[in-house]
Formats: sequence, structure tokens, C-alpha cells
Amino acid sequence: MIVVDDAPSQLSESATASARTVEAWAHAYITTRDLHEKLMPAPPPGQWRDEGLVAPLAPGRPRALCVVRKAPRMPRKAGTPAARAKLLHTFLHHELQAAELMAWALLAFPTAPRPFRQGLLAIMEDELRHAAHYRVALADLGVAYGDQPVRDWFWERVPACRSPGSFVATLGLGLEAANLEHTARGGVLLPDLSRRLRGGDEAGALLQEQSGREEVAHVAFGVRWFEAFRGSLRFEDWSAALPPPLSPLLMRGTPVARGARRRAGMSEAFVDALEAWRPRPAA
Ligand SMILES: [Fe+2]
Ligand SMILES: [Fe+2]
Repeated sequence: MIVVDDAPSQLSESATASARTVEAWAHAYITTRDLHEKLMPAPPPGQWRDEGLVAPLAPGRPRALCVVRKAPRMPRKAGTPAARAKLLHTFLHHELQAAELMAWALLAFPTAPRPFRQGLLAIMEDELRHAAHYRVALADLGVAYGDQPVRDWFWERVPACRSPGSFVATLGLGLEAANLEHTARGGVLLPDLSRRLRGGDEAGALLQEQSGREEVAHVAFGVRWFEAFRGSLRFEDWSAALPPPLSPLLMRGTPVARGARRRAGMSEAFVDALEAWRPRPAA
């Protein structure tokens, strides 16, 4: 049996539960220092209202998390339970940051179209579910979230995005798209996770498939909205929309997942250019 040991730290209503608008809820979610709430916030309220809330530049961090400036070295293989736990812990923290940054974008771009902002909210829900899957896998190894140091790398970079187009270029078309390449690695790490989560092979397989589809859908969301904001998705426009020092180098894995990227709506020419891109040699 999998035991998840977090109970709400206060008896009073949580910050996300007491928020009356989506904007206040997003702000409460980013800034909360309550681990339970960070992993399982109350559902967002139905009402939207621009309350002039400023998007926080850094997230609240529960005391259980030790945030470091330099991430510990990642194991190259998941051969031992300790290495597996290290990787899973890192992936969990990536999912959490992705969820938080969806909430950040919702606040940072208050004049962006409502369907775009609603889409951010829906992706956030997916990311929290993915984080929960990793947490279950970690618990199975006897490791809790917070047992290893974490680095807020996404937070160090993404808030430099000055427009919703730059945001989708960086997250959906950049970091999340690179995840399509890393998914195979995740599949090796979590061969039986889905089955245990659902209690049956068939349902477990469905869950795994669903997660894969969701990641492709997140990238597709990036494609659709980049095109809406910038007219089309051309490789040069995309790379120019990345806030420095980010470059396409960090936004792809090896080998490039051509099929998944094409399913997400990237053109053949875009994927070719991404594959062929090389950093300029220093002058
Ligand atoms: Fe995810
Ligand atoms: Fe995602």
C-alpha cells in the first residue's frame, strides 16, 4: 500500500480554498509554503477578475524543501534504487515548477485571451497529476519529496519572459517539448507505476498513454498559441522569442522525438531546423 503522509498543516481554511477568483487562487498557489497545499491545492474558483495582483518572481517553498543554487549531479542511469529516487525526485520538482509557472503566466499576462489563460489552468491540473504520480513512485522507494535538495531552475529562467508568446516559446515549445525526448527515459524509470496506481494492467497502460498524450497536448497548446500570438511558428521566430541566455540547445534531447513533435503540430521544417541548430562558436 502506498502511504502519502502529508496532512494539511493548519486547521484553518487553506489559502487556495479561501481565494474567490482564479487570479487570487493562482497567487495563493504560487506563494503558499504549505507542502500539502503545494501538491494538492483546492480546486480553482469559477470566477475570473483582474485584481491587479503582481505575478510573484519566486515561489513559496515549504520548509521541507531544501532549495540549492546548484543542482546535485544527476545519475546517468537508473540502475539502483538510490539513482532511481534521485531522478524521480528531480522529475517531480520539474512538474511542480511547471504547475507553478502556469499559474505565474496566468497572472503575468492578464490581458491575454481568456481561452489561453483557461488553457494554462487546465495544463496546471495535468502537471499536478504528473507530480502526484512521481510522488507515489518515490514513496514506493521509501523517499519523500524534500528528502533531496531541489533547484528552482525553471523559476530562474521563465519569469524573464515578457510576453505570452515568449512564455509559450520557452515552456511549451521549449522545455516541455524537450520532455518529449526525455519521456522514453521516464518510461524506463516507471515501468510498473501506472499498473500500481490503477491496480490493473489495462487501466495502468491507459494512464501511461494518457500522460504521454497530455505532454504532446501541452506542446500542441504552445504551437497553437505561438501561432496565434506571432502569426506562424518559424524556427527563427521561436528561437528569437527565448529569453537570453536560453537557446535551442537546452530545448531538445537526443534523438529528437520527430514523431511526437510532428503530432504536436511542429512542421517538418521546424523539426529539421531544431535538429540542425548549432551554437555559434565564440568570437
Ligand atoms: Fe508534466
Ligand atoms: Fe507538461
